[in-house]
Amino acid sequence: MTTTLSIRRPDDWHLHLRDGAILSAVLPETARHFARAIIMPNLDPPILTGEQAVAYRERIRAALAKGSDFEPLMTLYLTENTDPNEVARAKRNGEIFALKLYPANATTNSASGVRDFSKIDAVLETMSEAGIPLCVHGEVTDDDVDIFDREAVFIDRVLDPIRRRHPELKVTLEHITTQTAVDYVNAATTKLAASITVHHLVINRNDLLASGIRPHYYCLPIAKREEHRLALRKAATAGASKFFLGTDSAPHFDDGKEHPCGCAGCFTATNALAILAQVFEQEDALDKLEFFTSRNGPSFYGLSPNQERITLTRADAVAYPRKIDTQEGQITVFNPNMPLYWHID
Ligand code: NCD
Ligand code: ZN
Repeated sequence: MTTTLSIRRPDDWHLHLRDGAILSAVLPETARHFARAIIMPNLDPPILTGEQAVAYRERIRAALAKGSDFEPLMTLYLTENTDPNEVARAKRNGEIFALKLYPANATTNSASGVRDFSKIDAVLETMSEAGIPLCVHGEVTDDDVDIFDREAVFIDRVLDPIRRRHPELKVTLEHITTQTAVDYVNAATTKLAASITVHHLVINRNDLLASGIRPHYYCLPIAKREEHRLALRKAATAGASKFFLGTDSAPHFDDGKEHPCGCAGCFTATNALAILAQVFEQEDALDKLEFFTSRNGPSFYGLSPNQERITLTRADAVAYPRKIDTQEGQITVFNPNMPLYWHID
């Protein structure tokens, strides 16, 4: 049995760091192992301009431990009023890496998201020309669409038309949760890729709902049936270049999660890599882990993979905190409900 594994240092292609007390508490959990991360702009208020992205990047850098070389890759929150010139300018000046598309009200802090997708065509054209990637939260929010169907309907009604109108646009369908999404991405051109979270490789909707409601497993897109979880595991562990890690680690205080109207998001930064190694071992695919965590993402985004390496060692069960303390409350760490044996040096 393999007991040590050396891989290039991983990156996280979808991460929520928030601001203030949460930022300082959760940033070390990611910066410990990951070299770079795409930072989500759904703060309240959202990051709408290059200037705001730069100020947020400074707050992140200021919260890093001394000597850390963690690199936050900043995003703008795309709205119907986003100015294509501002996007092009911010990209030219190195202020931003990508734009994030939230359908209005699809998830946490998405009220300023897009309602009428025809209104973003000019920005998307500018992004195609400037080679700026679009990160997509792929769910419709129409009341008549069942929550478990929202991703599949989004692909059909929104994503596919956008890609037909902008065939050169580089698009990441983020945190995919269905076989439908896996198939759609596999069938598409190299301009489309998908990120997969750690938690969607571990839980299905029964884990969320079948033995009492588990608010810490509630995230968006919501976990689906077992057959979909298995499709995601297959996609992630195959090594195929279109699928890479985006943890969507999304910290919320416990009182916001354990609430009559609990908020969506799983916090996985603390044990993400140990869980992934376990999942890849279960799938007999440890040799593919590096592709998923460290190679496919940079290759899609046109970046060099990290040169440094990390070593994973299989030993006694890994101990990790169940909660992260912040000055303003506690954040529960995702519970994979299985022992983890891979230690990361
Ligand atoms: C994210 C958050 O809390 O910001 N929540 C989640 O359930 N994933 C937003 C998001 O990525 O949808
Ligand atoms: Zn997210």
